[in-house]
Amino acid sequence: MAYAGDVTQTEFDRLLDQRGGPALVVHGGAGTRVDADPAPYFEGTRRAAEAGLRVLAQGGSALDAAVAAAVFLENDPNFNAGTGAALTSAGEVELDASCMDGTTLRAGGVACVKTVKNPVLLARRVCDDTPHVLMCATGAEAFARECGIPEVPNALMVTQRQLERWRELHALAQVEGADSVRKKIGTIGAVAVDARGGVAACTSTGGTMYKRPGRVGDTPIIGAGTYADDHEAAASSTGLGEAILKVTLARAACVRVREGASPREAAAFAVGLLRERAQGEGGVIIAGPDGRLGWAYNTPRMSRAMIRAGMSKALAAV
Ligand code: GLY
Repeated sequence: MAYAGDVTQTEFDRLLDQRGGPALVVHGGAGTRVDADPAPYFEGTRRAAEAGLRVLAQGGSALDAAVAAAVFLENDPNFNAGTGAALTSAGEVELDASCMDGTTLRAGGVACVKTVKNPVLLARRVCDDTPHVLMCATGAEAFARECGIPEVPNALMVTQRQLERWRELHALAQVEGADSVRKKIGTIGAVAVDARGGVAACTSTGGTMYKRPGRVGDTPIIGAGTYADDHEAAASSTGLGEAILKVTLARAACVRVREGASPREAAAFAVGLLRERAQGEGGVIIAGPDGRLGWAYNTPRMSRAMIRAGMSKALAAV
């Protein structure tokens, strides 16, 4: 597979296979176009991973670190999450996100949220402050107001780049039909392991481009988009949600670690399953409680970065 990154694949494999936390992996989605300039993806994922490690170094939990990294990517307009998210066929941003703590199995997700700039922070509030796991649409937005999370106009999260893509797809949809143009993917995610072996994961997305309003993919669904259990591993998925849901990709990868695979092997297995059983395209990142990390994807590119204690900067690839 074509490869471009800070170091060679062999060197990455050596770093991923090292044991001991704290460590963190982030992804900026498996839908990165082959003709796209990799520089903004390198920069964005590196900085997100470094932000996550800083949180761990300051005594934050694995969940605090994963959420901090995800917020960073939600705020970067180059990624399909938060500001810069893909638009629905109605031309709006409609966001999904989730997070999970592997020590307690506490989890939270939100779907179809249109007025929250950082849906991963709202997912965290669902996780921490409600007895629920998943909230959606206007109910989730009302909960955000209750939490004091500022409401933002939808248009504030719409970037010029996504508006141009929407216009292209809208024109194409008139000729080819809307469903045939609804396959382009993009997501962000982060997985973290702390020094005592606690793991956590989170994932956030605008979903597939030109999706039907109300469509929900894998990202807010625990087990599909996000999973974390200290007895297994933490994983975050990216790719076509309809396929990922069918094989519960994140959990499939984590279970494999419990069965004895390394995180790298588990990621490769799960992505193979995605292709074999659901004809799906995508990828997964994973962190094991022993500090080993992994990633795999079956698309031309997946934007990603990793960092672990002792590294002065994160290393990225796309
Ligand atoms: N994986 C993101 C989505 O399909 O919505």
